[in-house]
Amino acid sequence: MYAVEMLGITKKFGDFYANKDINLQIKTGEIHCLLGENGAGKTTLMNVLFGLYKPEAGTIRINDQEVTNHSALNAFHLGLGMVHQHFMLVDALTVWENVVVGNELGKFSIPKKESIAAVQKLSDQYNFGLDVTQKVSELSVGMKQRVEILKTLYRGANIIILDEPTAVLSPPEVLQLLDILRDMKKEGKTIVFITHKLNETKAVADRVTVLRAGQSVCTVETEGREASDFANLMVGREVSFDMERPAVETGDVVLSLKDIRLLPNAENTVSFDIHAGEIVGIAGVEGNGQQQLEEMIMGLMKCREGSITFLGDDITHWNTKKRCAKGIGYIPSDRHARAILSGFSITDNYLLGTQFSDKYVKNGIINHKKLNEQTDYLMGHFDVRATSAKQNIGSLSGGNQQKMVLSREVDKDASLVIACQPVRGLDIGAIQYIHK
Ligand SMILES: Nc1ncnc2c1ncn2[C@@H]1O[C@H](COP(=O)(O)OP(=O)(O)O)[C@@H](O)[C@H]1O
Ligand SMILES: [Mg+2]
Repeated sequence: MYAVEMLGITKKFGDFYANKDINLQIKTGEIHCLLGENGAGKTTLMNVLFGLYKPEAGTIRINDQEVTNHSALNAFHLGLGMVHQHFMLVDALTVWENVVVGNELGKFSIPKKESIAAVQKLSDQYNFGLDVTQKVSELSVGMKQRVEILKTLYRGANIIILDEPTAVLSPPEVLQLLDILRDMKKEGKTIVFITHKLNETKAVADRVTVLRAGQSVCTVETEGREASDFANLMVGREVSFDMERPAVETGDVVLSLKDIRLLPNAENTVSFDIHAGEIVGIAGVEGNGQQQLEEMIMGLMKCREGSITFLGDDITHWNTKKRCAKGIGYIPSDRHARAILSGFSITDNYLLGTQFSDKYVKNGIINHKKLNEQTDYLMGHFDVRATSAKQNIGSLSGGNQQKMVLSREVDKDASLVIACQPVRGLDIGAIQYIHK
């Protein structure tokens, strides 16, 4: 029996087909992986399933019943639960309050003791390791995600959809999540697991549906398949995991760090030189000063010990604007906070950071013609996929946002690009592109 059947689903945004005649059949009790690159249409399809988007065509059946007059409330009554990519928790509330909120409608008061006990029991049943009286603001990202899962379970969802749940997790947290998914399956839940990561697909999924460019390519059993089979289906061509690394001749020192103390209590300081023409990787477990390194090089954090030299100038105490003007391009680790303005068009985002230079601005007036031309050129050259340059950048997939940021920073004629986690959360195609 199928828990979910989506047949012939088409969903358009303007003239753009985000979903085109998609078929998806989820068997009751399985872990079904919805695999596809960024922008393939996975989230859109799930929003259709949840009644958040009304499709132009297609039918939805839940547990063999055709769904008519679909809405989000309806989805909830049909036993669907969803963990969105961006969490929807109230930080100031406790875990149990977050779980109970929204489920208390029609009641005058919430029985506190009983609620805490019930939520704690459910959490323990699935080995979530949560203390449900803790504030959500005190939890790690991985734990917050479990609260989201707990919410769906508390509401009695039998079909649980997780939209790229591993994108925000560290490797050990990913393994724990996969265990939780297996436990939920044992309890009889049906799980749709959205990802673009092949090893995760292989590790937990019973079956896989591959989406590519808004269409369903195929549904296959995981058993007996190699990761590379999925990669090829997903990208639509042979994918090579080998990088070409031609030998390069390096030039003079571009950036030099000397005796920088990244963390106040760190035992050692950091010193290194970066030469023209080379790519230097910084490796390490997160939380060991990477963020401080990023912020100190960019002038976002005061450097109290040691010095930074860029193209011969001591920039240790320069502000960020001055550093960028001298030729540092920056791809921040937090794209939303530092690289893009979500509510603005792609074109406007290309202007960001150059508003003080004469690249697009003369005497305080923006040269729109030049900006539009360069936007078109960069979007084409760097494969930034969107319906048009006027599209809100927030509605692009992460991979396309990142390609946009990359192209903008490289186009600034920077002598040095600081790229922080430039491929985090991106799919294979975009990762290969960014690496290239
Ligand atoms: N609200 C929207 N308006 C316009 N285009 C959208 C909107 N939401 C998604 N899209 C486009 O639809 C395509 C599929 O997006 P999405 O379903 O988010 O992909 P995925 O989840 O597989 O990364 C993308 O090209 C995206 O830019
Ligand atoms: Mg998505």
